[in-house]
Amino acid sequence: MHIEVIASVAEAAQYSLQDTTVVVIDVLRATTVITVALQNGALEIYPAVEVEQARDLARTLTSRNVLLAGERQALRIPGFDLGNSPREFIPERVRDTAIVLTTSNGTRALEAARSASTVLIGCLLNAAAVALHLENCSSVSLLCSGTANHADISDCLAAAAIIHALSARGVALELGDFARLCLAYFAADRCLELIQDSFHGQRLVQLGLEEDLGFCSRLNISNAVPRFVDDRIVLIDEDRG
Ligand code: MLT
Repeated sequence: MHIEVIASVAEAAQYSLQDTTVVVIDVLRATTVITVALQNGALEIYPAVEVEQARDLARTLTSRNVLLAGERQALRIPGFDLGNSPREFIPERVRDTAIVLTTSNGTRALEAARSASTVLIGCLLNAAAVALHLENCSSVSLLCSGTANHADISDCLAAAAIIHALSARGVALELGDFARLCLAYFAADRCLELIQDSFHGQRLVQLGLEEDLGFCSRLNISNAVPRFVDDRIVLIDEDRG
């Protein structure tokens, strides 16, 4: 299996993603939110790049129980039901809902991945479960959303955790250079510490969102693997729970 890690959404344009399986990663916090929301009973998630696009989309879904969620500058968008903290997406709030989500980097990365044959959603929570779904692929791109078009430590850790899980399962891997760097940096027992030290981690701490770092840093605690298909993200059925 050939694996490339793409450092940020800005770099995605340089890759041809049509013939690869893409895993979109935004540990802090969009893909953690997506994984948690679906695991906690949300039916589907519609990503939107722009705030107004999210509002318009929510209006077209009137027949369903719709929640608007997302952030700008890491804070809830005025008038939205939820922000982008995974701790908000509890079963009592999201069960049986359709969620329209817009975030600064994560939903842009999802948009950039649209042309791929298969698009999965990964984070630290579900890294090993995502790896299980990749086992038979010949070409995989781990698309890190990054922060403001730069690489982000938390995303690199999740990319490495997926590669690590594949390697542990005996899959023969051919890794691009950035994938090797991520793997060399990875330490399963230091994810929280490394994320606390990251640029975006620090920003969330300054905003009083430190608990999100601990929440998002937990490795391999979920079997939920979301898939982006036909404009919406749903859970691959057998992985619920
Ligand atoms: C993003 O998409 O940039 C993030 O999810 C930002 C955040 O932490 O809310």
